[in-house]
Amino acid sequence: MVIALLFLLALLPAASATVAPNLHHRDACEDFASYATRPEGTPSKGPLGLPFMRPAPGCRTFNSTAVEKVVANLTSRMKDPDLARLFENTYTNTLDTTVKWFNDNLTFVVTGDIPAEWLRDSSNQFKVYIPLMAQDAPLQQLTRGVINLQARYITEYPYCNAFQPPQESGLPPECCSGDTGAAVSPPDDLSIVWTCGYELDSLLSFLQLSRRYYEFSKDMSIFAFDNGGWFSAVENVLQVIDEQIVPTYDAGGNVVSFYNISGPNQQYMKNNGRGPPKANTGLIGTTYRPSDDVVYFPYNIPHQAMAIVELRGLASLLKQVGLRPDIQAAATKRASSVEAALWKWGTVLTKDWGEVFAYEVDGFGGAAIQDDANVPSLVSIPYLGFVNATNPIYANTRKMVLSTAGNPYYGFGPVIRGVSSPHIDEKHVWPMGLITEVVTSTDDADILLKLEYLKNTTTGLGLMHESVNTHNVQDYTRPWL
Ligand SMILES: *[C@@H]1O[C@H](CO)[C@@H](O)[C@H](O)[C@H]1NC(C)=O
Ligand SMILES: *[C@@H]1O[C@H](CO)[C@@H](O)[C@H](O)[C@H]1NC(C)=O
Ligand SMILES: *[C@@H]1O[C@H](CO)[C@@H](O)[C@H](O)[C@H]1NC(C)=O
Ligand SMILES: *[C@@H]1O[C@H](CO)[C@@H](O)[C@H](O)[C@H]1NC(C)=O
Ligand SMILES: *[C@@H]1O[C@H](CO)[C@@H](O)[C@H](O)[C@H]1NC(C)=O
Ligand SMILES: *[C@@H]1O[C@H](CO)[C@@H](O)[C@H](O)[C@H]1NC(C)=O
Repeated sequence: MVIALLFLLALLPAASATVAPNLHHRDACEDFASYATRPEGTPSKGPLGLPFMRPAPGCRTFNSTAVEKVVANLTSRMKDPDLARLFENTYTNTLDTTVKWFNDNLTFVVTGDIPAEWLRDSSNQFKVYIPLMAQDAPLQQLTRGVINLQARYITEYPYCNAFQPPQESGLPPECCSGDTGAAVSPPDDLSIVWTCGYELDSLLSFLQLSRRYYEFSKDMSIFAFDNGGWFSAVENVLQVIDEQIVPTYDAGGNVVSFYNISGPNQQYMKNNGRGPPKANTGLIGTTYRPSDDVVYFPYNIPHQAMAIVELRGLASLLKQVGLRPDIQAAATKRASSVEAALWKWGTVLTKDWGEVFAYEVDGFGGAAIQDDANVPSLVSIPYLGFVNATNPIYANTRKMVLSTAGNPYYGFGPVIRGVSSPHIDEKHVWPMGLITEVVTSTDDADILLKLEYLKNTTTGLGLMHESVNTHNVQDYTRPWL
């Protein structure tokens, strides 16, 4: 995800200066999780001297001529050699290190240091290459394979978020799924599923990748593969949305739930796996946040924003290709009802910041006033395409969650300042959150400052971490993600 968003950064600065090609290769194809912990190659020519962290060509998991062209083009025009190096290392990382297996039709891409494919992550890992589809047929085929496999996963397990390699790959299921020991209903098969956390945005990210892929490729083969499996997946997404709008209590006070996960782990849901109660609002429930933490309240507002955009995007995609008017109508109608519910239930009048978007609500008056660094987040709302940065409620919200007084998960110190996440802890700020600030900011000085923080916090490794301690740059999580 960090890697994906960084591509957008590279579009910002421009101008001269060339980065010397780096010729250092390692002999063996070392596991990238350990490779990423030591600097490699000739340092960049900027004050930070960032290392060259791409694996040797023979060790890369996919080669794309179009991606190499973008790297050469942008790095040759970037004035800051350290930023250019950071871009080169990160933009290529998905193709260099995470394409575990592919054939003509399917692509299995691991999230990084965990040997499984996440729906959300794989969408974001490939989203940055989408504008290149028409220029690189093998890359287009690889991306189509990601969508085809996602469709198959969602057709089989719409309430799950991360998966094992497909049977065709011949790769054995990896040990050890996060769901080991869990009681999941509907039941999961751990030879196919890695974890069954129900996260609305995972399903939406499949819609988003499909929409963007078609936009740049005009390739209709995704609709035909596996006998129209893409449509089965879309029908499941719409069904999950319908189910998750249903409030917890029916007219007779009976408890209704369409998803349950329980077990020994503290990450499992309260109320015997059903999660916190939902009032009757028209919003769509989710049980996990984009960080894979359990929600505090069931209606996550950034998820609703993404749902509105992607349901309309789905309708528009199907209209362009002249398919399934029934899905077009259902998606359009659902987007409108969720949008009405978002404006009614998703905002809160605060003492100091005016009217803001809550991060999560339950419809009973409960609300989490905070942001979490993972996208979809409150800061990312214009990036998701729901409202632009000039929307007054967004502007209030942004001011609040990017302040030390307005967001309990805004970490600050001499090393870095920005949005953190309880997924690690309150004092570890996520570079991804700063990237989200950059891509939604309209203030050049602010963008330059955030780029400084991003460059300064790679611990000299030239790659982005998941999170960095606000007071100690050596204390970071995940060299490779
Ligand atoms: C990428 O190209 C290099 C040669 O430059 C080659 O050794 C390697 O096998 C290629 N990787 C893939 C996955 O095709
Ligand atoms: C980089 O790409 C742009 C847009 O395609 C093109 O106009 C420009 O000439 C390229 N520059 C270099 C140095 O390759
Ligand atoms: C890919 O899909 C096409 C169309 O369904 C099929 O004809 C072909 O055999 C598949 N290729 C592989 C390698 O499975
Ligand atoms: C979830 O649990 C509730 C209560 O135990 C049960 O009624 C419901 O059928 C379960 N949901 C699923 C999808 O199994
Ligand atoms: C932002 O959205 C508002 C309302 O939709 C619109 O009037 C305005 O032109 C948009 N601004 C930009 C920069 O897109
Ligand atoms: C980044 O590091 C440089 C060099 O140590 C330092 O001068 C600068 O203040 C740092 N920037 C930020 C935003 O911390």
